[in-house]
Amino acid sequence: MKTISFVSQKGGVGKSTLALATAYEASKSGLSLKVADMDTQQGTLSDLHRQRLNNGNSSIGSVEIFGTIDDLKKSVAMSNYDFLIIDGTPRASKGTLAAGKISDLIVLPCCSSRADLIPTIKLGHELVKNQIPRGNIVFALSRVTTASEIGDAREFIRESGFKVLDGCVFEKPGYRQAQNDGYALTETKWKSLNNKANIVLESILANLLSE
Ligand SMILES: Nc1ncnc2c1ncn2[C@@H]1O[C@H](COP(=O)(O)OP(=O)(O)O)[C@@H](O)[C@H]1O
Ligand SMILES: [Mg+2]
Repeated sequence: MKTISFVSQKGGVGKSTLALATAYEASKSGLSLKVADMDTQQGTLSDLHRQRLNNGNSSIGSVEIFGTIDDLKKSVAMSNYDFLIIDGTPRASKGTLAAGKISDLIVLPCCSSRADLIPTIKLGHELVKNQIPRGNIVFALSRVTTASEIGDAREFIRESGFKVLDGCVFEKPGYRQAQNDGYALTETKWKSLNNKANIVLESILANLLSE
């Protein structure tokens, strides 16, 4: 079983959005998935999935809320999933490190402002300090708009010693609209949005398989 987690120091950066899209892309290939929603208060991903099913769309796998990584580990120990996708707690917590320890790939979604970049890089360093291999950590540029902010953010992250995924998730109402119905970033009504998001998702899967 391959495990990917989406974690961040801050809320609202696109963890649940990217977790749903990654699960959707993996489920399309016929892989069996467990999707762990660690946001016990908001249960965003579980809610999105319920919305998705209510709209008659395909399931992305078994989506469940877990209070702790230990509970999650117990739950998957007896099963045979190809993929485990962890949508992290709203903000970094003790569970973030625990999620990182069981992950083959840790994705840190990050907006382009200094106020987002610095805490995210700090979290990356914290994970490395706790014996998580640097090569297992990738940054995903999320909710970005202009080429210059993307270029600057990419350089800033690379200079701090971390990898950045190809492509980025642009801030677009079209993504939000799709998400309101439980659809993934690659399932919007707009082909260009789907194609742009697809670059990021392919990069996530490529990084996972190169581990
Ligand atoms: N690329 C995007 N464009 C527009 N809205 C977005 C985008 N990514 C996320 N959002 C919106 O921002 C909010 C927070 O996103 P979410 O994925 O739930 O973040 P997190 O899980 O990190 O808290 C949601 O309302 C979501 O619809
Ligand atoms: Mg979330």
